[in-house]
Order: sequence, then C-alpha cells, then structure tokens
Amino acid sequence: MRTEIVAGFATVILAFGAVAAYSLARQQRAVASMRLANEGYLRLAVQLVELRVNQGLFNTQLDQLLDGDPRERVTSRAWMALARRSRRGRLSVAVGLVRDTARTAREPDDRALLRRATESLAGIDATYATDEALFEEMFFALANGNVEAARAIERPILEREDRCEAALRGLMRELQLRIQFLADEAERRQRQSLQLTLLAIAVACVLGAASSVAALRSLRPLARLRDRARAVARGDLSPVQVDARPDEIGELAAEFERMVGAVAARDAALRAAHGRVLQAERLAAIGRMAAHVTHEVRNPLSSMALNAEMLADEVGALGAGAPEAERLVRAIQREIDRLTSITEEYLRVARLPQPRLEREDLGAVASDAVGFVRREMEVAGVRLRVDVDELVPAVMLDESQLRQAMLNLLRNAREAMEAAQVAEPAIVVRVAPRANDLGAAGAAVEVCDAGPGLTDDVLEHLYELFFTTKQRGSGLGLPLTREIVVAHGGVIRADRAEAADGGGARFTLWFPAA
Ligand SMILES: Nc1ncnc2c1ncn2[C@@H]1O[C@H](COP(=O)(O)OP(=O)(O)OP(=O)(O)O)[C@@H](O)[C@H]1O
Ligand SMILES: [Mg+2]
Repeated sequence: MRTEIVAGFATVILAFGAVAAYSLARQQRAVASMRLANEGYLRLAVQLVELRVNQGLFNTQLDQLLDGDPRERVTSRAWMALARRSRRGRLSVAVGLVRDTARTAREPDDRALLRRATESLAGIDATYATDEALFEEMFFALANGNVEAARAIERPILEREDRCEAALRGLMRELQLRIQFLADEAERRQRQSLQLTLLAIAVACVLGAASSVAALRSLRPLARLRDRARAVARGDLSPVQVDARPDEIGELAAEFERMVGAVAARDAALRAAHGRVLQAERLAAIGRMAAHVTHEVRNPLSSMALNAEMLADEVGALGAGAPEAERLVRAIQREIDRLTSITEEYLRVARLPQPRLEREDLGAVASDAVGFVRREMEVAGVRLRVDVDELVPAVMLDESQLRQAMLNLLRNAREAMEAAQVAEPAIVVRVAPRANDLGAAGAAVEVCDAGPGLTDDVLEHLYELFFTTKQRGSGLGLPLTREIVVAHGGVIRADRAEAADGGGARFTLWFPAA
C-alpha cells in the first residue's frame, strides 16, 4: 500500500516535472529568438534602412550630376564626397552588428542569413572601395570640362551603385521576412506552451484525483479498524471476521483480531480462575465450619456410643424378654457408628496433614493397602488381582496417606459394582513405571473395576467436595484422594478401564520418580 501511494504521488510529480522542464526549454528558445530579433535584427535593419535610403539618394544625385545644371555640380560633388565618406563608416557599423548578432544566433537559418549578410556587405564595401578611384577620375574629367569622358566613367559606376542598392534592398527584405518569421514562431511557441501547461494541469488533476481516490480506498479499512478498537475498548471482545487484504492494513487488522482473541482468552481464563478462587474460598469456609461442627459433635457422640453400649448391656441382661428394645438399641448403635465414621472422615479432609515423604516401593505399598481390604472384598464376593511390574522406580510417599487414597478407590469400586449388581465383581490393581504427559519419569498405580464406569455428568464433578450419587455417601473420598496425590506432586486421572480389566471405571494415580 505504501508503494501504491508513493507511486501515485511520484507519477504526478514526474509528469509535472517533465512538462515544466519541456515548457521551460521552449520558453528559453522563444526568449532567445525574441532577443535575436529585438537586439540583433532590428538594429541591423535600422542601419540597413539608412544605408539603402542614402544609397538611393546618392544614386539619384549621381544620375542627375551630368545632365543637370553645371553650376550645381560643385554642391553635388561636395555632398557626394561627404556621403561617400560616411557610408563606409555606416557599412562597417552594419558589419559589426552582423558579427555581434551571429555570436548569439543558434538556429542554422539565422546563421545562414547572417553569413549571406556578411558576404553581401563585404561585396558592397569592395564596390565602394573600387568606386572611390573612379569617382576621382570622373570629377577630374568634369573639372576639365570633359563631360563625355566623365559620362563614360559615370555609367559603369551608376550600374555598380544600383547593384549595391539592390543588394541592400534584398538584404532588407530577407531580414524583414526573418523577423516576421521569428515573431510568428514565438507566438506559436507561446500558444503551444500554454496548451501544454493546460494539458499538464489537466493530467496532474486526473492523476492527483486518481491517486487520492486510491489512497482513500486503501485507508478506508482504517476507519473500520478504529471503530473496532473503540468497541474493544468498550469491552466487546467477540470475534469478528476481518477482510483478507494482502497489505499492511490487512496485516494490522488480522494482528489486531489475534490480539483481541488473546485478550478474550485471557479474560475468560481470569474469570474462570476468579470463579475457582471464590469456590475455593467458599469451600474453605464450609470446611472450617464443618471441622468445627464435627469437632463439637465428636465428644457427645463418643459418650452417646458409650451410653448406648451400656444400654445394650442392660438390655442384654434382661435376657430374651425384650427383643424390641434390643433391636432399637442396635439401630441406635449403628447410626452412632455411621456418624462417628463420617465425623472422622470430615476431620481427615479438613485437617489433612503435610505428607511425610519417604523413599518407598509403590508396588509394596499398594499391595499392602489391597491386603487391608482383602477380607472385606471376599465377603462382598469381589475378585481381586494385583499386578506389579518389577521395574517400578522408587517414589517419595507418605505410606499411610497413600493407603487412605487406595482404600477410597477400592471402596468406591466395590460400592459401584454392588449398586449395579454386577454378576462377577472384580478389581484389578496394577503398578507400573510410567512417564507423565511432559515425559517426566515416575510410577503409576491403577485401580480398575467391572462396574458401570463414570458418566460424563459424574466426571464433571468427580473431585468436588460433597459430590456423591450414593444415598449414604458423603462425597469426601475422591476430594481427599486428590488432595493426597497433589500433595505428593502427583496426578490423578479417571477414565474407562480396558475390557480385560473389567471395562468399568479406572482411576490412575501417578507419582514422580524419587
Ligand atoms: N469406581 C467408581 N465407579 C463408578 N462411580 C464412581 C466410582 N468411584 C466414584 N464414583 C462416583 O463418584 C462419586 C464421588 O465419590 P466419592 O468417593 O468422592 O464419594 P462417595 O463415594 O459418594 O462418598 P464417600 O466416599 O465419602 O463415602 C460417587 O458418589 C460415585 O458416583
Ligand atoms: Mg467413596
């Protein structure tokens, strides 16, 4: 676009410059011609007119000299002597003028004319010089009264003097024609120059208008860009389609839209982060409150449990007489146990301590945790399989916290299969070396089940505090598990298990190598 604008203005300037230079050159030539005519030819013409007029008078005098009154011959002779003397001086002035004019003449026609004038004047001067002696002879014959001899001399002189007059007249005519021609030519040049200037102005106007229109058209998207920038400043970050122009403004618009996109993305990320912070603050407040309530409830609960136990003993002492009372006491004890385990779990989540990391064998710790629930699984009819790769690298672990995490996963698996009434409930625990998404070495433990798996809806809220789909669930197991994994610098992931591993849910805990 820059090139287009520069090219437009350069064309206008060049066109103007060329026309100005051309008309200036023409004007220079016109001025030179006029100076030649005014200062050279006109002065020469004046001189020639005088010479020719004098020559005419001289020739008349000469012609009448012998036929006129002899008494007037003396006066005529004196006048002629004077005229002869002065005409050669005038002639040399004319020759000088021709020479000066020739110096400034540039055109070949002028040079040729001035050359002819020089030759012609030189011829006249030679004639004048030759005639001087003849005049003396003629006047001598006349002084001696020998009119016939004087007439014999006078005739050729008259012829030659007539030729001089004719030559002067011819020269004059040529000079007049040339002056007329130069004046006409100057007029013609001036007319042409005027036309050319008008043409140049018209061309410059057209070119200027064209390049202004082109520049305006190129700059029109700038107004759109300005409006867009104002809209963005007002907060409108919605994406807008930009014209694909192959110039700087097109690139600018595309870059601007990319920048708006980046700002919009950052805005969205900030809003999401802000939402997460608010949620975390809310959860932390709820957590603190829950921990407080749980703490307050725990002591009365333990005395209630003690009292219920004593009550059960009392009721037992009554023997088989009070079966209804025994059933009610057992129900009270069950509910107290459930409340106790929930309060314990709340407190674990609320007061999860910093893990005490030690270099551990993940395979051994996971097998240990599985051993912890083996009995429970057998009772529930769940088949347990543990696969441990021998090459698993050592990891830094808090053994009791990892066991807690594993127990949550194993219990969830069992409960999911129970709820779905899976015909052959089975759990596969696999420990293997694994690199994370960024290629860092580590080890992973997978817990796969044969249950219904995780729906998208459940996946979305899986790790949220208090999220549960179970009637008596508290929704604390997975948030606690994730807390533990993250505190170990690890990653938790949930997806679907391979068909060979049961095809249900699969939870993977990854830990970096020690
Ligand atoms: N293996 C699994 N298969 C299917 N769904 C699962 C599985 N594990 C967890 N879930 C789903 O995730 C939810 C949250 O689990 P989480 O362990 O956090 O809480 P809970 O098991 O419901 O309650 P709590 O563990 O506190 O007793 C569950 O209610 C269940 O819907
Ligand atoms: Mg659970």
